[in-house]
Amino acid sequence: MRSFPIAVTALLAAVDLVSAYPGMGQQMDELMSLKERQNTPELIGDLLTLADEELTPTGAAIKAILLNQAAGQDATSNVTLPVPPKGSAACAADTCCIWKHIADEMASAMVGSALRCNNLARAAIRLGFHDAGTWSKSTVGGGADGSAVLARECENRPSNNGLQNVCSQMRAWHQNYQVYGISMADLIQMGANVATVVCPLGPRVRTFVGRVDSSTPNPDGLLPGAFQSADELIAMFEDKTISPAALIALVGAHSTSQQRFVDQGRAGDPQDRTPGVWDVNFYDEIKSTSSPARVFKFQSDINLSVDPRTSGTWNAFMSPNGQRPWNGAYARAYVRLSLLGVNNINDLTECTKVLPPPITDGFPIPDEVEMGRFLQGPRNRQATDALLEGDLLPEFVENL
Ligand code: HEM
Repeated sequence: MRSFPIAVTALLAAVDLVSAYPGMGQQMDELMSLKERQNTPELIGDLLTLADEELTPTGAAIKAILLNQAAGQDATSNVTLPVPPKGSAACAADTCCIWKHIADEMASAMVGSALRCNNLARAAIRLGFHDAGTWSKSTVGGGADGSAVLARECENRPSNNGLQNVCSQMRAWHQNYQVYGISMADLIQMGANVATVVCPLGPRVRTFVGRVDSSTPNPDGLLPGAFQSADELIAMFEDKTISPAALIALVGAHSTSQQRFVDQGRAGDPQDRTPGVWDVNFYDEIKSTSSPARVFKFQSDINLSVDPRTSGTWNAFMSPNGQRPWNGAYARAYVRLSLLGVNNINDLTECTKVLPPPITDGFPIPDEVEMGRFLQGPRNRQATDALLEGDLLPEFVENL
């Protein structure tokens, strides 16, 4: 470990602003070169062996994202309207067209009446991680290949507890759309990225299609647990080419989450005060000593928030200024995660334009009073269920 890890990790987080906001100027260029000196990001898949002149425009774009030279998010690209109907020759002529139909269907299933993202959305984000995260440099095979669903890892592995419903939903969507030539691997990663952007304040992560499916179970034991130490977690993610700073950005996905299986007696309890909202309150809450009763913290998140290799990045993502750097860092890290084990990166197609627009201008909590009562009170099933669905909290009676 270096003698100035906190400064470096905070710097790494700040540098992610460069690609989220490319006009930030010369200081950022200087920071970038310092970052490159400290920690050159690794390439993955076929990008490890292809020369620059062999890269397609998409291969070159992904390489730039992985090397911190381009943004991992894109808030503005859009499809040309009207979108041709499914099954039409015009739709078949554009690889992304069918994905626009799929993304719209996913988006409408992932938001509740409070406009928060719901259970299906959260599970879709976690599924994107669990399908891709079965890859490491030290093992053979695995990665973003659809096997979480196709090889029934969802149903057969305790590490995937809680993902069974989203896996059934992916099967149903695949059944409906496979006639158009889509892969399960892409469907899962599209689901994760639609889910992320429909969570209020979530980034619009750049989205690529063309992954190859596998029905062979991937290596087991490569996903993290809620009681692991920072040492174990940092080593596990570094073996996936994910740096400690990128790991801290990725675990911020717990900002939306409501655990069910770490403590079943507290099923539905959120990991911050604003479940279903992609905000940085999660980073604050994990370090807070005065969290409300209902906030449930994973020991793994606490461990990462205080470890000297990661606490600087953690602090950089806390409010009030953390949202932009976090979104930029998350998006870049998620592009990498979503391509682990993919060996045809150069042949992929970018379809970010099919994603819904991001909600960037703040998100006033629409049911603030009820949310306050829920957070401070004893467990309440009615309120928990509404929250899980992304719905407005009812004026509930306090019971169990
Ligand atoms: C240190 C690494 C990580 C650990 C130890 C961890 C652990 C967990 C655990 C124990 C749960 C609760 C499951 C339940 O009881 O229902 C959970 C939920 C979740 N995790 Fe992670 N996770 C990690 C990293 C990530 C990453 C990298 C992502 C995404 C990029 C992610 C996204 C999520 C989401 C969205 C949920 C909510 C799922 C739902 O509500 O159905 N996690 N995680």
